[in-house]
This record gives sequence, structure tokens and C-alpha cells, in this order.
Amino acid sequence: MIEVYDLKKTYRDRTVLDLPALSLRQGETLALAGANGSGKTTLLRLLAGTLKPTAGTVKTAAPVLYLPQKSYAFRGTVLQNVLLGINGRKQQALDLLEQLELRSLAGKKASSLSGGELQRLSVCRLLIRPCRLLLLDEPTSACDPQSAALVLQALAAYREKTGCTLVLSTHTPRVALEAAERLLILRDGKPEADGAPQTLLQSPGSDWMRAFVAGWRI
Ligand SMILES: Nc1ncnc2c1ncn2[C@@H]1O[C@H](COP(=O)(O)OP(=O)(O)O)[C@@H](O)[C@H]1O
Ligand SMILES: [Mg+2]
Repeated sequence: MIEVYDLKKTYRDRTVLDLPALSLRQGETLALAGANGSGKTTLLRLLAGTLKPTAGTVKTAAPVLYLPQKSYAFRGTVLQNVLLGINGRKQQALDLLEQLELRSLAGKKASSLSGGELQRLSVCRLLIRPCRLLLLDEPTSACDPQSAALVLQALAAYREKTGCTLVLSTHTPRVALEAAERLLILRDGKPEADGAPQTLLQSPGSDWMRAFVAGWRI
């Protein structure tokens, strides 16, 4: 669940996010799109509570899990990274690694992974925990199409299991189409379009939207 009213984030005199309202029921899914600098990460961080709004209110269901835009590894092996801060559950961790095709790397140092492998590990580290609200900042940005499909499958299975609300940002139309029932497009920190991904992609309602959709990576 998410309830947002009159949300603003300003740095000095520059407003980088200005969102009058956003409401999601428990279990709903939302994809965020928009050019670099349009405010996607800012919105996700405000929802995650890692950034304080300049004005407005944010209400979310807890617990919240948040995947930052930049993936990182903790010290130790891939498996140890997934089990960090968790009691037992080794089999569940191995199953998750299997799901994301990282099982054969379980004993490898996490710091030695490739960008796409590290991103999938970061997803595993999150999905081993339950939550009510899952926030993912470009979760497939480092993945090849096949790896991205694995992430989407794992997300679908996790949502099925937990009934969590999901918000993710992406530059990939396929991710928005497959993972979300709703797409919010930000333009200079403001909502430009909000609707079903299929509808927005097929019938962009303005010249700006037409240009945006045409430039979106397929
Ligand atoms: N700490 C900061 N100080 C000043 N400007 C910032 C800061 N953090 C982000 N911004 C600016 O806010 C805007 C939105 O950034 P961001 O939310 O990261 O965009 P996106 O994720 O859509 O690429 C950008 O222009 C960025 O430069
Ligand atoms: Mg960002």
C-alpha cells in the first residue's frame, strides 16, 4: 500500500520531484519510466524512507525492501551474501540462486561477479526476505535479455507468495509490460502519463509521449 500527497523534493531552488498524489492498493504493481534525471530514483528513495521529502506526506505499508540503482557486494561468497542477517534458510537461499542461475557460483567470492551476476545476486539478497512493499530501482539494467527474464520470473513468484506491492523503475518497455499493471512516466520530476503500460505504449496521448515512446528501448 502507498499513499502519497503533495510530495516535493527540492535541492536549493530546484524541484526535482513534484508529485501531487500517488495511491497504490496492497498487491498492485507500478513501473516508473522517464529520462535520466526525471526523478525515478528520488521517488523510490522517498518511498523507501532513505530520503526526506521537502514537502508532502508518504504513507507505506511495512516492511519495505529497497533495491538501490547501484548493485554492490558484501564480503564473502555469493551464498553468504544471500544469507547475510538471516538465520538458517540455506536451502531457500540455494533455491533462489538456482532460480536466478547463480547456483553454480554460490561458493565464489561475491566481489568477483560480473555486473549482471551481481545485480541478480542483489535481487536474491532481497527476495529471501518477506515484505509488504518492494521497491526496485532499475533491477534489470545490467542484465542481458535472458537474465532479465529470470529476474522477472523470480519477481512474479515472490509477488505470488507474499502479495507485496511492487514499484520498479525501468528503461525497458518489456519489463514495464511484464512486471506492472500500471506505468507512471515522469518528465522533469512531474507525472506526464499514468495508465496501463500497453495503452500508453500503443496510444501515446501527446507529441512528447510519442517521442518518448519512440525513443524507448525495445
Ligand atoms: N543530492 C542531490 N543534490 C542535487 N541534485 C540532486 C541530488 N540527488 C539527485 N539530484 C538531481 O535530481 C534529479 C533527479 O535525479 P534522479 O531521481 O536520480 O533521476 P533518475 O533516477 O530518473 O535518473 C537529477 O537532475 C539529479 O541530478
Ligand atoms: Mg535513477
